[in-house]
Amino acid sequence: MGPEIWSRIEELAAITAEPGKVTRLFLTPEQKRATEVVRAWMTQAGMAARVDALGNLIGRYEGNRPGLPALVVGSHLDTVRDAGKYDGILGVVTAIACVEQLDRESIRLPFAIEVAGFSDEEGTRFGSTLLGSRAFAGTLEPSQLESRDAKGITVADALRQFGLDPAAIQTAARNPRDILAYVELHIEQGPVLERLGLPVGCVTSINGATRFKTEVAGKAGHAGTVPMAGRQDALAAAAECILLVESRCGGEEALVGTVGMIEALPGAVNVISGEVRFSLDIRAPEDAQRRRAVDDVTREFERIAQRRGVSIQVAKSHEAGAAPCSPWIMAQIDRAIQAEGIAPCHLASGAGHDGMAVAAITDIGMIFVRCAGGVSHSPAEAISVDDVETGARVLLSFIKNFQPERAV
Ligand code: HGY
Ligand code: MN
Ligand code: MN
Repeated sequence: MGPEIWSRIEELAAITAEPGKVTRLFLTPEQKRATEVVRAWMTQAGMAARVDALGNLIGRYEGNRPGLPALVVGSHLDTVRDAGKYDGILGVVTAIACVEQLDRESIRLPFAIEVAGFSDEEGTRFGSTLLGSRAFAGTLEPSQLESRDAKGITVADALRQFGLDPAAIQTAARNPRDILAYVELHIEQGPVLERLGLPVGCVTSINGATRFKTEVAGKAGHAGTVPMAGRQDALAAAAECILLVESRCGGEEALVGTVGMIEALPGAVNVISGEVRFSLDIRAPEDAQRRRAVDDVTREFERIAQRRGVSIQVAKSHEAGAAPCSPWIMAQIDRAIQAEGIAPCHLASGAGHDGMAVAAITDIGMIFVRCAGGVSHSPAEAISVDDVETGARVLLSFIKNFQPERAV
């Protein structure tokens, strides 16, 4: 399965908004092209494939009788800008390869299998993340369709441009009774497995995350004539905020805080910046720990604003609590790993995943695959075809031996 998965990932990597880079954002023409290609692979694997109201691609492989509840396996189809080739896509293409193998062996299990290619895990285009999997879980707020991208296009407009109906988002919501569990195979995006010399691992929980859009309003002025004292320099204030995030979050184990985007206006070498916008992303394994950090940071921002004579508006654009993986699923993942002669290892996920949203309607599990140096969200993201093969064998073994917690 490894080489076939590998070549499909290479094929998808060429479907991008930026030639030479991997950029495939939510509801873009590139995502539409990728969805069509992956949908054809699903059909080839013996699945009935459909695109739901939020652009999620869902393939269904019936069990030993029609209409059975499903084990859902998959990941996300969207990417960040200038992404790696494997984040998200590895899980979708590997899940399809597993179903294709079952089909080849004419195996029908006592449950259905659904492969989910979620449409917006990253949240790169609109800032709010997990929109596809939230719709799948029935927890998407209609107000989130009003989020705008950098060109001012709302999610609702983008859905219409993609050929979908924003009024139909409720039709994407799944009935929990139809889902037995959700399991996602994903690159680790961290260094643990590589340091342990292990190709795969079993995830214990997904860290919770809060994201903000921050706006600093100061007073633009002539860089040459306005004395330093008394400036209301929005960019200097933002810089102090960013260093505050680094020091507050750097002081606690497993807590992380990141400012990944910043825009300074008017953006001229000889003008004191009057307006700055920057992103903020704070995460922790424990929700209380994350909320304390958020409170401290936002309170300090206010102090900085007062001292510098600027205003700072902090708007929450996303929040997802920590999502524990279920022990009964972890035990079956461990068994599948052991069946490959590999010692099972348990590790938390610092990165967010669709399981945070899907956990609202079913129990979740995750299988991590080693990635070089733990690098991700970068074209330097790298894995080996052997580890792809091992990941696929573990997922297939998990599926074949899956024991639902409730009677089907
Ligand atoms: O941001 C994240 O953690 C995920 O990769 N979307
Ligand atoms: Mn991902
Ligand atoms: Mn990602």
